[in-house]
Amino acid sequence: MPPPQAEPQKIAMPGVKNVVAVASGKGGVGKSTVATNLALALHMHGRRVGLLDADIYGPSIPIMMGVNEVFDPNTTQFPLDRHGIKLMSMGFCVKPETAMIWRGPMVHKYLTAFLTQINWGELDYLVIDLPPGTGDAQLTLTQTAPLSGAVIVTTPQDVSLIDARKGLEMFRQVRVPVLGIVENMSYFLGADGKRYEIFRHGGGKKLAQEAGVPFLGEIPIDPLVAECGDSGDPIVHRHPDSAIAKSYLDLAGIVAEQVRRSTDSTAELPTLKL
Ligand SMILES: Nc1ncnc2c1ncn2[C@@H]1O[C@H](COP(=O)(O)OP(=O)(O)OP(=O)(O)O)[C@@H](O)[C@H]1O
Ligand SMILES: [Mg+2]
Repeated sequence: MPPPQAEPQKIAMPGVKNVVAVASGKGGVGKSTVATNLALALHMHGRRVGLLDADIYGPSIPIMMGVNEVFDPNTTQFPLDRHGIKLMSMGFCVKPETAMIWRGPMVHKYLTAFLTQINWGELDYLVIDLPPGTGDAQLTLTQTAPLSGAVIVTTPQDVSLIDARKGLEMFRQVRVPVLGIVENMSYFLGADGKRYEIFRHGGGKKLAQEAGVPFLGEIPIDPLVAECGDSGDPIVHRHPDSAIAKSYLDLAGIVAEQVRRSTDSTAELPTLKL
């Protein structure tokens, strides 16, 4: 039998109180949108917040936060600051087309540099937007970043829920607490105030129950969310009083509470039943 492998060393980030990863097994379920609006919502709750785009191959944070230029890393002081949030993304250093052709070791190198060589200063929360899937980049990050926990994003459809399970399993393997599951694009809120369940709704809650992790809430589907994201001014910032912004603000409150519980050594941690 091969000897057990030594656990990779966790990176120390002394000024950062809590590091929260936003993940999913599946692509396109709304991780980057959740991560961005969650970061802004935590900031609206009065917290000091950073947002790290760990999607080296396909960074979305520059567009979502309205940063459309590429900077010279030798003369630019990272992280940038937008809408009160400290930001880092590979998209600030290279055009997205360039990042697409990199291989695994480069991804590892840059992610580690983003965590260790960037002066994040004092932060209450560093939110990390993970790339889709459960491959090498996700494993590197979950094993080396000092994560307080992970938020798993799913949509109500079965395909997304199956992949969300894989995400849960990955965090279980690397012993990172799952703060809970959020169901994105959960329902549509009509102008008449009624909820329309476009996809089957409730799968996220069911998965959370099955896995024995907290259910963090539901984010409605609304074209305005996509429009605000595409225009670089996320909905929580552009329409802070909207019903959807409220769902992100509620999510931020619950995430903060779960982080507190998971870092409080006296609290009981949820055990995954997968
Ligand atoms: N609640 C929502 N309502 C409407 N559109 C949404 C919502 N959440 C996300 N979207 C849109 O869905 C698309 C995918 O979202 P996003 O890029 O956040 O997903 P992702 O999981 O990060 O994708 P990837 O796996 O490629 O990183 C985007 O166009 C985004 O604007
Ligand atoms: Mg993304």
